[in-house]
Amino acid sequence: MHPIARALKEAGNRVTGIIGARTKELLFWEDKMRAACSELRVTTDDGSYVRKGFVTDLLKEAIEEKGDIALCVAIGPLPMMRAVCDLTKKYNLKTIVSLNSIMVDGTGMCGCCRVTVGGRTKFACVDGPEFDGHQVDFAEMSRRSVIYKPQEQIALQRYNSQGAHKCGCGCGGDR
Ligand code: FES
Repeated sequence: MHPIARALKEAGNRVTGIIGARTKELLFWEDKMRAACSELRVTTDDGSYVRKGFVTDLLKEAIEEKGDIALCVAIGPLPMMRAVCDLTKKYNLKTIVSLNSIMVDGTGMCGCCRVTVGGRTKFACVDGPEFDGHQVDFAEMSRRSVIYKPQEQIALQRYNSQGAHKCGCGCGGDR
């Protein structure tokens, strides 16, 4: 988000940044984002910093307050980007989302980043990662993102029960 905001501002746009996190400790780069944007609004889900709420609350306020926002760019967890797109659709506000969070190998080989955009199959790593958020099938992507949750839980439990992770390749090293 930071280089995008900075470039848009340098190109002469008025950039309203909104950053949020579950709690204060998880917020980062507030100072850098403040410098990159014309204005920065901050929120935390639990209200531990600045104000309580979601980024979509602040986005709705900004859209209605300014009335002339031309483009929304959303980058973050899938549920957040989905909620942003649901909101901006109501205002017919063009929205770009970045789906790099679903990428794994980034080469077009593993297929993890497969996503349906505008009814067509795309790979975030080779076709994106930026897409028209209003064309992204978030429901399908959300279903795909939890397919291996049971296996992930088992792997995490095994990892935690082992203490320090020992490399499984046979080299005898840690991590
Ligand atoms: S990240 Fe593996 S195919 Fe895109």
